[in-house]
Amino acid sequence: MAYAIEIANLRKTYKGGWTPALDGLSVYVHEGQVMGLLGPNGAGKSTTINILCGLVAPDSGHATIFGKDCTKHTLELRKTIGVVPQQIAMFGNLTAWENLRYIGSLYGLNSKQVKDRAHDLLARLGLDKHADKRINRYSGGMKRRANIIASLLHQPSLIILDEPTAGVDVQSRAMILDFLKEYNQQGKTIVYTSHLMEEAEQICDEVVIIDEGKFVVSGAPLELIKNTADCKRLEDVFLHYTGHSVRD
Ligand SMILES: Nc1ncnc2c1ncn2[C@@H]1O[C@H](COP(=O)(O)OP(=O)(O)OP(=O)(O)O)[C@@H](O)[C@H]1O
Ligand SMILES: [Mg+2]
Repeated sequence: MAYAIEIANLRKTYKGGWTPALDGLSVYVHEGQVMGLLGPNGAGKSTTINILCGLVAPDSGHATIFGKDCTKHTLELRKTIGVVPQQIAMFGNLTAWENLRYIGSLYGLNSKQVKDRAHDLLARLGLDKHADKRINRYSGGMKRRANIIASLLHQPSLIILDEPTAGVDVQSRAMILDFLKEYNQQGKTIVYTSHLMEEAEQICDEVVIIDEGKFVVSGAPLELIKNTADCKRLEDVFLHYTGHSVRD
């Protein structure tokens, strides 16, 4: 199976940073997979995602998406990938429709394409009745769902989601996870981060655990559980490899 993402020996130390955010990280994601990028706070997950979408330049190493270098083909790759950032990336004082029209125009979509796709996605993610409400009136779960829609209007083959279920209730989480599974079943690759191990166990074909900017272990959740001593859940595996000490 071909790789959707190849990350080889990435290094990144931010200006003024004491320790590297990424310290020789290598990660591979197969096409068509749901891959969970897991790690404690500060492990380097968002830095990795920001390098993949061309927002942060690595100091060294390589990152490619569908064989194209992320540092060189940023604009071209933006047509193929959808990125859902950790922070809500929509204009709070505009309605969902206004946001989606604007984002659609950035992707060069015509108004019919935006209307049709936004209509379908808003309905699928339970926001059709709220399309004319301002985003800053939305609940946390609604904002997260809208943030996902914004990244999918151009129908990307790969979506990268940075904590898409952070701070949402059980109902919104279930809707988001069902939706991601459904999107994956259309042959799309999904990379996602979460601190909820139970959730990752439920939806990921494979997870990769990173810590302090380094690769720790990867595999299918059930395989990792089976192959790690005294582990019954992915959370046990995570703690086995990353320890109990709190990150600063
Ligand atoms: N813009 C920045 N400037 C300086 N240091 C940064 C910057 N962004 C991240 N860092 C540092 O780089 C390291 C990795 O951060 P990163 O945000 O990639 O981790 P993360 O795994 O996404 O963590 P979290 O689970 O808290 O979101 C941390 O030590 C963080 O403090
Ligand atoms: Mg992060």
